[in-house]
Amino acid sequence: MNALLLTQSDEGLSAAVTAVEEADLPDGDVLIDVAYSSLNYKDGLAVTGKGKIVRGDFPFVPGIDLAGTVAKSESDRFAPGDEVILTGWGTGEDRWGGFAQRARATADHLVSLPEGLSLHEAMVIGTAGFTAMLAVMALEEHGVVPASGEVVVTGASGGAGSMAVALLHRLGYDVVASTGTEAAHDYLRTLGATRIIGRDELGNGPKHPMEKGRWAGAIDGVGGKTLATLIAQTERHGSIAAYGLAQSHELNTTVFPFILRGVNLLGIDSNTCPPERRRAAWQRLADLLTSADLEAMQQTIGLGDVIAYSETITRGETQGRIVVDVNA
Ligand SMILES: NC(=O)c1ccc[n+]([C@@H]2O[C@H](COP(=O)([O-])OP(=O)(O)OC[C@H]3O[C@@H](n4cnc5c(N)ncnc54)[C@H](OP(=O)(O)O)[C@@H]3O)[C@@H](O)[C@H]2O)c1
Repeated sequence: MNALLLTQSDEGLSAAVTAVEEADLPDGDVLIDVAYSSLNYKDGLAVTGKGKIVRGDFPFVPGIDLAGTVAKSESDRFAPGDEVILTGWGTGEDRWGGFAQRARATADHLVSLPEGLSLHEAMVIGTAGFTAMLAVMALEEHGVVPASGEVVVTGASGGAGSMAVALLHRLGYDVVASTGTEAAHDYLRTLGATRIIGRDELGNGPKHPMEKGRWAGAIDGVGGKTLATLIAQTERHGSIAAYGLAQSHELNTTVFPFILRGVNLLGIDSNTCPPERRRAAWQRLADLLTSADLEAMQQTIGLGDVIAYSETITRGETQGRIVVDVNA
């Protein structure tokens, strides 16, 4: 089988598509014929070595997402022929991941492909869409409803941001897309953004600890000064779901919006999301997103293209989602 293999030597990290033995796959009770994986920001960091994502031993197969068909199973939960999705649980970080034609996994980590989705569509969604769904669910659970007012999405043209815009639109929210990519304005309107603002409008930090309340809710993929601005500009009892750090991992803020306005800052971690919530989120994704939504926000590349696209995604220059056909 072919895999994108990362090797570490005195000269540093290198990545190449290489033939590997099935016997080298990690332990697990389910063997999967991988159909598609996807390229996330985190995968870009792993493949280029720009971020310390890989915690397993080298040589290592990255790829935090995969979708495929069960080839062999020692678990009574899955049988050969079943279609499954694997995201998170350290896949592509401490266990070999999806940039390979086969993968071995633990049955408890797998989600059955929900009815209404193809394996390709599941990877258009991938960790990015799953994370966006968890962010939307967190806002809903904290009382942000379509009638509450505008919900802003930062890093809107990226993978998770695009998904958040499309999901909020399908649920009837007024979605404001914050983007630094002018060329993405038409794309974001197609996904359902009702208004578009420039990245700089939020990206320089707030002038005051509390500013005029502008947002009933926010979904933030960039962190840093942008998240600090969102906290200062969220309306009374509004909520912000934070999952990303494309701008910065740092956050300088004050407690005033929390204790004087009841603003909620909700952390989203897709990696360790418990199985029941995971299945519920995937079912909602299948129910909410149309094939046309998914087609509009994807491009599909081959395994050999992953190295070049990893550079592009870490420079913030990709739009929407990148599906990897591991057999192409
Ligand atoms: N917590 C979790 O479970 C979880 C899961 C998935 C992803 N993430 C994180 O979420 C973020 C987005 O992931 P992704 O895979 O969707 O990445 P992506 O496709 O690269 O999207 C990131 C977007 O952020 C914006 N951006 C890039 N550089 C920026 C900067 N310096 N300042 C402000 N905005 C910037 C760009 O959008 P515009 O051009 O539209 O502004 C870019 O498209 C990453 O930080 C990733 O690590 C976390």
